[in-house]
Amino acid sequence: ASAEKGGFASFMEKEIFDQPAAVADTLLGRSDAYGHLTLDELRISPEELASVTKIVVLACGTSAYAGSVAKYAIENWCRIPVEVELSHEFRYRDPIVDSNTLVVSISQSGETMDTLMAVRYAKEQGAKILSICNTNGSTIPRESDAVLYTHAGPEIAVASTKAFLAQITATYLLGLYLAQLRGNLFTGQIKDILADLGKIPAKIQEILDRAEEIKSLARSMQDTESVLFLGRHVGYPVAMEGALKLKEIAYIHAEGFAAGELKHGPIALIDEGKPVFVVVPSPRGRDSLHSKVVSNIQEVRARGAKTLVIAENGDEAVREFAEFLFYVPETPTLLMPLLATVPLQLFACELATVKGLDVDQPRNLAKSVTVE
Ligand code: G6P
Repeated sequence: ASAEKGGFASFMEKEIFDQPAAVADTLLGRSDAYGHLTLDELRISPEELASVTKIVVLACGTSAYAGSVAKYAIENWCRIPVEVELSHEFRYRDPIVDSNTLVVSISQSGETMDTLMAVRYAKEQGAKILSICNTNGSTIPRESDAVLYTHAGPEIAVASTKAFLAQITATYLLGLYLAQLRGNLFTGQIKDILADLGKIPAKIQEILDRAEEIKSLARSMQDTESVLFLGRHVGYPVAMEGALKLKEIAYIHAEGFAAGELKHGPIALIDEGKPVFVVVPSPRGRDSLHSKVVSNIQEVRARGAKTLVIAENGDEAVREFAEFLFYVPETPTLLMPLLATVPLQLFACELATVKGLDVDQPRNLAKSVTVE
């Protein structure tokens, strides 16, 4: 088994280090040098896709956070409303879907029962179903009108890592393809975004090369009982995913929040020494989100929090308020989750490892939940 893990302590760690390839392989062969996407594999006609008036993303767990990230990008690029809903909530509330709705299911395994049932329900209502899946020939893609496979390779560890980044990548390809079909973006704009996506694998590798920075932080926090994660915009689902990873494998109470909600409740949780991860938006962003999140760091720090900051390379404004600071390479805001998630995965993985836990097979959890 240790050979299969490629010298890593766990499959999860190996899979975290597989992420440059997972993203690169998911991008591979799906666009040309002129910025033209060729998703011919989709079995829904371009005309049908272009006429979609609403997208509903259905997924569970980590896959649902990939959907939450996708919402920001697809709405921005395509101007189509995107709803993201947990599969198990969807079909019990008489949801509004019709033949102009594109349902995008996201599932690593393609076997999650709640997502399968939600897909079946949406199909009965006349929606078109496109599934994003990592497992060839699994049930959800077989029952869908179209499939966009993520090429992350088999994921063994129960806690999802490389499938998550591959799912975000695939939803981005879908978003760009829809923008191309509908004329929402110029070819040059699509080409630029594809070029930025193409640089992501090397940037993930830069982060992995500095894994020891975040791993040593994790080792110093073995006795931690609770960790909060704050993020805003696309950093919000990244914070949620960071918290989920820590719960799943390190059995540490963790909660993710939208940073703007801090003053509406979560700040009451802050006391002396409370670790708070903050995912900081790029200071190069158009709006004032960066300064608002920097203020949030100051607010929790003033109340005694141990501030653990994930920020973009060159962001000097956060330095004085960060007890721990991890820089990720520069990238356009919408692509940031593909980088900022990685240190949080490494943190959870190392913390669970030093606690002596079974990182790949956490208690009470299954890789694929085939019951409702
Ligand atoms: C289980 C796994 C998670 C996964 C979720 C959804 O809970 O432990 O890692 O995110 O199912 O799985 P899916 O295969 O549908 O993406």
